[in-house]
Amino acid sequence: MSNSHLVELNDVDKVFHTRHFFFKDEDTARRRLYAKRVVHAVDRVTFGIRHGEIFGLLGPNGAGKTTTVKMISGLVRPSSGDVFVDGLHVERKRLKVLRKVGVVLEGTRTCVWPLTPLENLAYFGNLKDVKGSILKQRARELLIFMGLKDKMNVQVRKLSRGEKQKLAICIALIADPPVILLDEPTTGLDVQTSRVIKDKIVQMTREQGKCVLVTTHDMHVAQELCDRIGIINMGQLVACKPTEELLSLFFDLTYEFHLDRLPDSDALADLPGVLEVEPARHEDGPVLVLRLQPELAQRSEALYTVTGRLREQGVLLRAIIQRQASLESVFLHLTTSPVDLPKVALTQPSGAEVR
Ligand SMILES: Nc1ncnc2c1ncn2[C@@H]1O[C@H](COP(=O)(O)OP(=O)(O)O)[C@@H](O)[C@H]1O
Ligand SMILES: [Mg+2]
Repeated sequence: MSNSHLVELNDVDKVFHTRHFFFKDEDTARRRLYAKRVVHAVDRVTFGIRHGEIFGLLGPNGAGKTTTVKMISGLVRPSSGDVFVDGLHVERKRLKVLRKVGVVLEGTRTCVWPLTPLENLAYFGNLKDVKGSILKQRARELLIFMGLKDKMNVQVRKLSRGEKQKLAICIALIADPPVILLDEPTTGLDVQTSRVIKDKIVQMTREQGKCVLVTTHDMHVAQELCDRIGIINMGQLVACKPTEELLSLFFDLTYEFHLDRLPDSDALADLPGVLEVEPARHEDGPVLVLRLQPELAQRSEALYTVTGRLREQGVLLRAIIQRQASLESVFLHLTTSPVDLPKVALTQPSGAEVR
């Protein structure tokens, strides 16, 4: 991978081993080990994030997003593979890496509730060696930047959930780290607060050249916010591409022909340039969905022939609509394909006794 990457993961794996104790032997007062669980949370993941880039890690619940974030920030050790931040190996140079990374984990109570936002930033700034007038100035600037100007001196416990999330982001930014990791930053927040947070993420990336990793299970957040998206499913990175490219991979060459009645679709399927024909019924009438050859000349030819055939058959054409590429369809396509294997192995009663 090239040096332009501020964050790099090379073939990173994380396997969690957990033990479940389901009953206690009354006679011996010993717990019996009922089942062991091995979870392959992250499976040979490789990707990089560049300066000034918003990278989205998109995946369903349990896909391995949080584990990936924790491995980048040095909170979880990979089972194998290497993680680098600004060229530094996260395990070998942990303290140095900590200074380069600001992280907001999902649902954690980062901020100290009895303190005010300003006091929180003073506290966390000191922990991260930002001191004196620089700390004071930066704390004020950050709170104003995140729209917490009026709440600077209000106890955190009195703030709304969205305001606490904004403060958590300020805390992550207090030491001005080049890398920001945001785990599900807008989950559970109202539309307005999500909007502000998304705008601020874009602003700090574009204006300050930060490298931002956002995890989300919400494709709209990913589609709107991210320059590049990695789709993770059952620990595996199943796609990793610039957002536009990912969207154009699927469905952009699909056209809906809105008609007054359905024609003989078999005859259309054999036409040059036509890959697939599927009749459908919308609320406003019959629709023929056609997937065409990607190459422009063939696609154009196919559109002409199809409309010609429809005319010959006396079918009225109400509209031709090019289907909007949506990340949702790409996501569903990639996360429900049959190649995915279950990554959870349950070993049934081992009978082993454990204290
Ligand atoms: N500390 C842990 N111990 C055991 N299993 C874990 C631990 N952390 C995460 N997992 C498991 O790893 C998988 C991925 O979890 P996570 O990274 O939190 O997913 P996501 O953030 O995408 O929802 C899940 O199956 C989860 O149960
Ligand atoms: Mg998570």
